[in-house]
Amino acid sequence: ATIRREDYRPYPWLVPDVALDFDLGLEATRITARLTVARNAEADASDTIRLNGDDIEPLSIKVDGEVSNDWHMDGSDLILPLSGDAHEIEIATAIDPSANTKLMGLFASNGMLCTQCEAEGFRRITFFPDRPDVLSTYRVRMSGPKAQFPVLLSNGNLEAQGDGEEGTHWAQWHDPWPKPSYLFALVAGDLVANSDSFTTMSGREVALNIWVREGDENRTGHAMESLKRSMRWDEQTFGREYDLNLYNIVAVSDFNMGAMENKGLNVFNTKYVLADAETATDGDFDGVEGVIAHEYFHNWSGNRITCRDWFQLSLKEGFTVLRDQLFSQDMGSEPVKRIEDVRILRGAQFPEDSGPLAHPIRPDSYREISNFYTATVYNKGAEVIRMMRTMAGGDAFRKGTDLYFDRHDGEAATCEDFVTAMEDGAGLDLTQFRLWYSQAGTPKIGVRMEHRGDRAILHLKQDVPPTPGQPDKAPMPIPLRIALFDRESGQHDGEQLVTLTKAQESFSFDSISSLPVLSINRGFSAPVTIEREISQDDLVFLAAHDDDPFARYEALQDLVVSHLKAAVSGQLEEAAKRDGEEAITSAFASVLADDSLDELMRGELLVLPSETYLAETMLVADPAAIHSERQALRGAIARALESEFLNLHERAGAVPFGMDAAAKGARKVKTQALIYLAAGNPDVARRRAWSQYEQADNMTDRQGALMVLCGLSGIERTNALIDFYNRFQGNPLVIDKWFALQASSMHPAALEHVKALADHQDFTLKNPNRVRSLYMAMAYSPHAFHAADGEGYRMIADLILALDPINPQTASRFVPPLGRWRRIEPKRSALMKEQLERLAAAPGLSSDTHEQVSRSLG
Ligand code: ARG
Ligand code: ZN
Repeated sequence: ATIRREDYRPYPWLVPDVALDFDLGLEATRITARLTVARNAEADASDTIRLNGDDIEPLSIKVDGEVSNDWHMDGSDLILPLSGDAHEIEIATAIDPSANTKLMGLFASNGMLCTQCEAEGFRRITFFPDRPDVLSTYRVRMSGPKAQFPVLLSNGNLEAQGDGEEGTHWAQWHDPWPKPSYLFALVAGDLVANSDSFTTMSGREVALNIWVREGDENRTGHAMESLKRSMRWDEQTFGREYDLNLYNIVAVSDFNMGAMENKGLNVFNTKYVLADAETATDGDFDGVEGVIAHEYFHNWSGNRITCRDWFQLSLKEGFTVLRDQLFSQDMGSEPVKRIEDVRILRGAQFPEDSGPLAHPIRPDSYREISNFYTATVYNKGAEVIRMMRTMAGGDAFRKGTDLYFDRHDGEAATCEDFVTAMEDGAGLDLTQFRLWYSQAGTPKIGVRMEHRGDRAILHLKQDVPPTPGQPDKAPMPIPLRIALFDRESGQHDGEQLVTLTKAQESFSFDSISSLPVLSINRGFSAPVTIEREISQDDLVFLAAHDDDPFARYEALQDLVVSHLKAAVSGQLEEAAKRDGEEAITSAFASVLADDSLDELMRGELLVLPSETYLAETMLVADPAAIHSERQALRGAIARALESEFLNLHERAGAVPFGMDAAAKGARKVKTQALIYLAAGNPDVARRRAWSQYEQADNMTDRQGALMVLCGLSGIERTNALIDFYNRFQGNPLVIDKWFALQASSMHPAALEHVKALADHQDFTLKNPNRVRSLYMAMAYSPHAFHAADGEGYRMIADLILALDPINPQTASRFVPPLGRWRRIEPKRSALMKEQLERLAAAPGLSSDTHEQVSRSLG
């Protein structure tokens, strides 16, 4: 059934207190839930209460202490008549966690028990109003075999514990902060902790524990440091202080997502907790830091203030992503982080916004909410709040967030509440800006610069493309940071913010003696596509002179994108093609020679636009042509600059290992150099990569070298793959890399490799990380996925069919790549559609996967 935002009604009952009693077992866990309920004066009265369930049955029901038989099921919901103003309801249920392959609700992982309740997993444990606007305080008692589950955790504070009969023990937890059911968590298992403490700004001493399986504790140091830095940063930057004496994090290896912000008891995918230099790359370290911060920041933006309903998801996710982005910007290199975040947005969100699954950051309807944990809700949601910050300025923005936290603390709020607080606190008028919440689609901004007399005139127009269900769009406010460069001096008179609010608008700038070079959307101030009329020379100018690092990166990207678009269209004459390659090569030569750049930034500037992003810039894409033209350009750059890349590889190779920015930057350019060399001179690259692999004293160098070797043929490839596997056998996160590197490699036979790996003894459909490491890597590697005969599409459809009965949430995540069919050349397009139709016709498809398939066919 379709749920609509406009149908929201408050729940007729309040549930102030919940007491849960768990009798734990891997195969059988028995739950008794006691709910106190009272009429909600703010809702329409009802003489029944509807409690959601999913895959559970009531074993017994009592109302006010009396056994009740006066109930019935409506689908999977339990309906009970209630006549008075306040009651106590007691319900017993039993579940088999070991059979819970969906990994929603209470499930078993590696002999431990843990929960995932967001968004609708709590109803798989007990019958409950499983919606985020019902807030309760929870008291949780659990008991189980002490040898099997020595550690018993839930939200809040430990109140009491003791031993029971026959080798059992128990613990009782109480969370004083009212919360919705999706923030409930329970963990029971044989775990060890890395423990530390943090003193908050008001002097509260908080015990910090990161719980992992024995043997993993020496890889939790970075997560702990990241947690403490997050806690301090949120105090300093947003004035937010932690509100319990205990903060627990548990790492589990079977998990559908990155992590979960349960109050006082975060549950994490091991991927975002465990890191040391030998087994994790610099990118993995950044991932740990970012996700630890994200879940911590949810304590305020998510837990203290939660969402009224799931249409408001971006209220907590968009805001929290912005908060974690700003944190990481402050911890490392601000421009590099910004470039990475924009790359994610363009790689994941732009395609979503331009395809059949496009939806506004605040959707209007859904069938399965888990399908809406998207790059749009998360990453575009963050960009929308970032625009408010840009328009308000940092200090006013802080006044807005202060007011929001203050005004709505303890509530289940809406996106509208956030926007209103921003208006009142930051002094913005966001009347028109609200369109960013309701309209889907990435605005296209047309840009033309004109010079007349002593004035420069900037002509802007906007077009918000139609998206499913939204054929006509209104113009939105587009805040653009710009600078006008004087060609002669290479300088500008300061950055300005222009906000385009109409379909077309012109902005005039006085005392400008000649046509300036326009730097626009600096820092990526608005999540839009810029279509500027600009010469190759001006792009080269900006790529060399722009003092905004993002704009400089962007000019280089534009240079490459416009060249490759022309090359792919086949309309580029040989001479023009060589001119283009030369311009690009000389721009890259300046990047390689520029002493003012740090290596991290140099590494960013050297990254070519991805094949996915290139496809996105074309109305209809030919993936094979994009792949070969991009590789050809890389080869041309590499051949022209071979000695520069060799020097870079050598210079960076001489930097000793460290976790400082300089050493990280050296590692980044080292592998970048190899990637170019591989395209220009494979023999040299193979030797260099092999020696980088062999000499590596850290995973960044080792994985980088292996990645390059994976794309080349030869005995070095085989030897490195065997060595890597043997070296890291028994470390699942590293074996995930081994699968992913082969699946996403540039090797012509990558698809054959994926087929063989699916039969590998270490491959399993039961572990989401492993499934993603093989098949997500392939589905997002265009040259494998878009194999001309449609084999990649068929393999993804086969996977979806096999995985759907086991784990529908993860299965449905593989549909979007196939959903791109309308934007791909006709032959492949038909093959993609054929697989979607095959999926649509499959009997017994989960509602998760079904929703994505039918929207994709749309
Ligand atoms: N709230 C979690 C986070 O952003 C993610 C939960 C994802 N849930 C889901 N059903 N996909 O940190
Ligand atoms: Zn989140």
